[in-house]
Amino acid sequence: MAKPFDMPVTVIVGAQWGDEGKGKVTDFLAEDADVVARYQGGNNAGHTVVANGVEHKLHLLPSGSIHENVKNVIGNGVVVDPAVLLDELKKLHSKGIRPKLFVSDRAAVILPIHKLLDGAYEDKTGGFGTTRRGIGPTYADKIARTGVRVGDLLNAAALRERLAATLPEKLALLQHRGGKVPGHDLAKLMADPTPYVDELTKELSGLGEAVAPMVTDTVALLHESLEANESIVLEGAQGTFLDIDHGTYPFVTSSSTTAGGACTGTGVPPTVVDSVYGIVKAYTTRVGSGPFVTELPHEHGPGKHLTEVGHEFGTTTGRRRRVGWLDLVLLKRAVQVNGMTSIALTKLDVLAGVGELQVCVAYEVDGSQTTRLPGNAATMARANPVYEAMPGFEAINKATVAKAAREGLAALPAEARRYVEFIEDALDVPVELVGLGPGREQTIDRRMLS
Ligand code: GDP
Ligand code: IMO
Ligand code: MG
Repeated sequence: MAKPFDMPVTVIVGAQWGDEGKGKVTDFLAEDADVVARYQGGNNAGHTVVANGVEHKLHLLPSGSIHENVKNVIGNGVVVDPAVLLDELKKLHSKGIRPKLFVSDRAAVILPIHKLLDGAYEDKTGGFGTTRRGIGPTYADKIARTGVRVGDLLNAAALRERLAATLPEKLALLQHRGGKVPGHDLAKLMADPTPYVDELTKELSGLGEAVAPMVTDTVALLHESLEANESIVLEGAQGTFLDIDHGTYPFVTSSSTTAGGACTGTGVPPTVVDSVYGIVKAYTTRVGSGPFVTELPHEHGPGKHLTEVGHEFGTTTGRRRRVGWLDLVLLKRAVQVNGMTSIALTKLDVLAGVGELQVCVAYEVDGSQTTRLPGNAATMARANPVYEAMPGFEAINKATVAKAAREGLAALPAEARRYVEFIEDALDVPVELVGLGPGREQTIDRRMLS
């Protein structure tokens, strides 16, 4: 189907440490899309979509789910907790929204033991500040070839065999981490895991039956869409610096969040990707542990402003997000590894009233300046930001937002415009969308205006 913006395959990727507003931008672009496919992560994600004044929080479902005419795909690169999938769908159904959903038969399944292992590791070691949703252990099993895939849930006998073969090792690891299996004596299970294998087979087969109507070969489905010249949005979760390879390892998630992951995680080849949207928050946030060069104290000053005005509390765990100034050292690397063709700049409105703005243009590490991202977390933790100051701007009222949405950047205060243009020049990537609020209508779409 021909669409106004001719965007057959668009990748959406977070350019920082997550929560940049990917959900909002995906929902916005889904207006012109036939398919939205999630390519990695699981319900560690929290994507907020505000449609017609109603807020929807999505964790596992793609952010095209609010558009009932869009095909929503959970790709093979995603890790699926089937109970969470059914629960999220139920919540949308109760609001009268019935998304068209297709789940890859190849996607990895988050088992209860993965969540126990995740939590036990965090408790024992202090960990990474994970979401405790079992993400790391599930991807570890996928890579070790000891995991369960969605398709396996549809065959109870094979599932039982797989669980019987793989659970003992995981129980031993859980014991090593000081964890427990609720309702069971772990020592007894290690001697004879049969009761747990039976219990899990029953529970997972039941969930398998419930999800079965949605399970399909999503690679084939996406290729049929490509052949029909339908427009496809590939939606990433988390952000570039939570990527298992390109992030601030080991303080990362366990998947390929960057644009390359969109291809492996869906089976859509790189040769058909037309554009890559990097979603850039106008400042920086991070949830969980790890280095954060431009971090600000949240108790006072600009950090307090960003936390409170930006409502920087996690969608998934409710934790307060750490906040800081925009960091161009990070963003330049994000432009490179994602091959970013466009930027969607979100939350510009939150900067209004914060006073003078600071943008990090380099790091000072062990006495020398660099614009290269340090290769390890310990070095990055020692880096100090080198800032360029820019004049701030005052609150952008509703009428100005509406005018800017109609007429573009020119309607904004000159300092706000300058901030956008500064980012565009520094990164050499066009800022095509500018977010001035959580709603679809609070967006400047410069594609419309050029
Ligand atoms: P995601 O994980 O990248 O999808 O982002 P989240 O949904 O976790 O967090 C982004 C938050 O910012 C959500 O509460 C959005 O509703 C909100 N948001 C998105 N864009 C804007 C914007 O331009 N301005 C404001 N004020 N809020 C925004
Ligand atoms: P969205 O898609 C922000 C962080 C966790 C932790 C690290 C590893 O909403 O942007 P995990 O549970 O994935 O093993 O945790 O990654 N994290 C996120 N931070 N937004 C997210 O998703 C995140 N998903 C994971 O806080 O530091
Ligand atoms: Mg989020």
